[in-house]
Parts: sequence; structure tokens; C-alpha cells
Amino acid sequence: MGHSAALNFADGKTFFIDVQEQEFLLDAAVRQGITLPLDCREGVCATCQGRCDAGQYEQDYVDEDALTEQDLADRKILACQTRLKSNAAFYFDHASSFCQAGEALKIEAIVTDLEWVSDETVLLKLDASQHSAQIQFLAGQYARIYIPETHEYRAYSFAHAPQANNQLQFLIRYLPEGLMGRFLKSHCQIGQSIELEIPFGSFYLRENEAKRPRYFIAGGTGLSAFLSMLDQMPASDQIIHLYYAVRHEEHLCEQARIHSYTKKFSRFEYHPVISQPSEHWQGLKGYVQEHLETEQLHAHHFEMYVCGPPTLVEAIKSHLADHQIENGEFFSEKFIAAA
Ligand SMILES: Cc1cc2nc3c(=O)[nH]c(=O)nc-3n(C[C@H](O)[C@H](O)[C@H](O)COP(=O)(O)OP(=O)(O)OC[C@H]3O[C@@H](n4cnc5c(N)ncnc54)[C@H](O)[C@@H]3O)c2cc1C
Ligand code: FES
Repeated sequence: MGHSAALNFADGKTFFIDVQEQEFLLDAAVRQGITLPLDCREGVCATCQGRCDAGQYEQDYVDEDALTEQDLADRKILACQTRLKSNAAFYFDHASSFCQAGEALKIEAIVTDLEWVSDETVLLKLDASQHSAQIQFLAGQYARIYIPETHEYRAYSFAHAPQANNQLQFLIRYLPEGLMGRFLKSHCQIGQSIELEIPFGSFYLRENEAKRPRYFIAGGTGLSAFLSMLDQMPASDQIIHLYYAVRHEEHLCEQARIHSYTKKFSRFEYHPVISQPSEHWQGLKGYVQEHLETEQLHAHHFEMYVCGPPTLVEAIKSHLADHQIENGEFFSEKFIAAA
């Protein structure tokens, strides 16, 4: 039985390949048209170097000049010596064009629903079942959605884990002056066809065998990526904190779904944080960084994922730096407007 490998590149493109039992990752990639850079094929030159971000693997021969002990501890790999023990995700620190990996997958999908889940947020539902193979992406990654009648696209994180029936959901903040905003408000029709390019992004769940506490911090529709991750993660007793920052409490979305995670994860804690609350709001007020438990963060090695506006990502980074919190892995995705 083989495994699936996601190959992520520095230009944000991701390709999924099958890797047969006992097959080397490099051979599997080349067999499927992705010519990863290579030279010796013997574990010596390090030309095929990458990093395993999720999944189990083993390596045959790795020369000490190719990867140091620290590199190995950091899960760096030589693709020519790596065999998979489970499905896995790898990162290569060069553009995919370096290995003639081709274009990202373009698909058509039909709009099945446009649900206004708050006055500034739309849950866009698409049916991509006409695409015969199951659509693959890593939880936390995003799609480029082309705005019909334009050549423009906007990036949106999948709001769910991959599904066999290829039903897709995206949580989209409505900007009245935005190109996508105007399309959703005035032109989008149920039954309409939309083009997407998938999948993109290096913001996805990392391997966490040690069950380190996970902190998910969402600003507005940054929540989408975390819905995907929480759907994808198996039930466990791992410590999970979800912080969800919005301006007004009526902008909180998908509350029933978020609360349902307490059944799946026995140590799941949800912290909505409102920066401009009404007088009725009883919960956390202000900004997320004011509510992070510094002592708790110092106490364990943790993983932190932050997704949303650049100001949120920068504020959390500064908070960690100001409090000398260095015992965590930090991953972020900024919602910078598309070029
Ligand atoms: C990797 C990635 C993932 C993303 N995922 C999501 C997602 O899951 N959900 C989501 O809602 N958005 C997401 N975004 C943002 C999204 O791609 C668009 O930028 C956003 O929806 C605005 O598109 P628009 O066409 O409506 O506005 P545009 O026509 O692009 O912009 C209209 C005006 O609003 C300003 N503007 C653009 N973006 C924002 C913003 N976020 N806040 C305030 N003002 C803004 C612009 O500067 C401009 O003045 C993501 C962005 C990136 C890069
Ligand atoms: S090609 Fe030389 S180490 Fe893999």
C-alpha cells in the first residue's frame, strides 16, 4: 500500500503525489513529472534537501556532511533517501518552477449557497463534484477564486477538511468596495460556475506527535483556516486554544460549529475576544495578546498558528518577543490583498 505526499514549494504551490511502498520520495516525484533538483542520488550532496512538516518517514543513508544531527532533529530530509511510513507533507525551499512541476490545478465549481453568517461575512458553498478525483489540500491552505467576468482572483482559505464529495466552503469577509465583495453582494447566483485554482500556501498543520499545546489565533475570517484544521485533526485530549478576534460580538460566525469541537477535543478552550463590544458583552474584551497566558506559554513547548490581518500577526509576534517567549513554533498567514 502506498502513501500520499504533499510537496510544498517556496512559491506557495503544492503538488500531491503517490509514493509506493519502499519507493524513494525523489523517484516518486520524478515518476509523476516533478523533477526535484538532484545530483548524487546517494545521500551525499544534499541537492535534494527538504523538510518534512507532517507525517512519518525513514531515511536510508544520510551523509554527515549533507545533514547535521540538528538538521535531522529539525526533520530535514534528503528526498533521494526518504521512504514514507504514512501520508506526509514536505517543504522545499525553492520555487516549484525549479522542477518543472507545472501549474496548480484549475477546477470549475458550482455555487450552491451564499449564506450571510453575519452582516459582514459570507459562507460561500461550492459543489466541485464534477471534478472526478477527490480535491486534495492540506488543512489551512487556500484556493484562488476567480471573480467571474474578470481576470482577477482572490485568495480564500478552505473552511473545512478535504471531503470525498468535493463540497467546498469559504468564509469571506464582505468589503462593500471590494471586487469580490461587489460580486458576492450583487452578481453571484446559485447555480453559477466559478473557476478556482488549488491548492496554495505553507500555512498548514505541522507534525505534533508530542501533542504539544496548540494555540490557534484568528482575526475575523482568519477563522476559516482553523475550521479546516480542527475538522482535519483526529479527536484527542491535546490542549487546544482557539482565540477568535472580531470588532463586535455580532460578527462572531460559526459558533455552533466551534462549540461542537468541545465534544471532539476534551481539552478544547474557546476564547472569543471583542475589541469594540456592546455593554451586554460578558466575555473577553480588547485584543488577543492582552489575554494570552504568558506563564502558560512559558511552561510548555507549544505550537502557535495565527491567521488574519497583518496587524494581528505583528501584534502577536511582538507580544511573544516582548515576553521572551521562545519555546514555541510560530506559523502565520497574513490576509494581504492580492496583487
Ligand atoms: C493567503 C490568503 C488567504 C486569505 N484567506 C481569506 C479568507 O479565508 N477569508 C477572507 O475573507 N479573506 C481572505 N483573504 C483576503 C482576500 O484574499 C481578499 O484580499 C479580501 O477578501 C478582499 O477582496 P475584495 O476583492 O473584496 O477587495 P479588494 O478589491 O481586493 O479591495 C478593496 C479595498 O479593501 C482593502 N482591503 C483588502 N483586503 C482587506 C482586508 N482584509 N481588510 C480590510 N481592507 C481590505 C483594499 O486595500 C482595497 O482598498 C486571504 C488573503 C490571502 C493572501
Ligand atoms: S541527490 Fe544528492 S543527496 Fe539526494
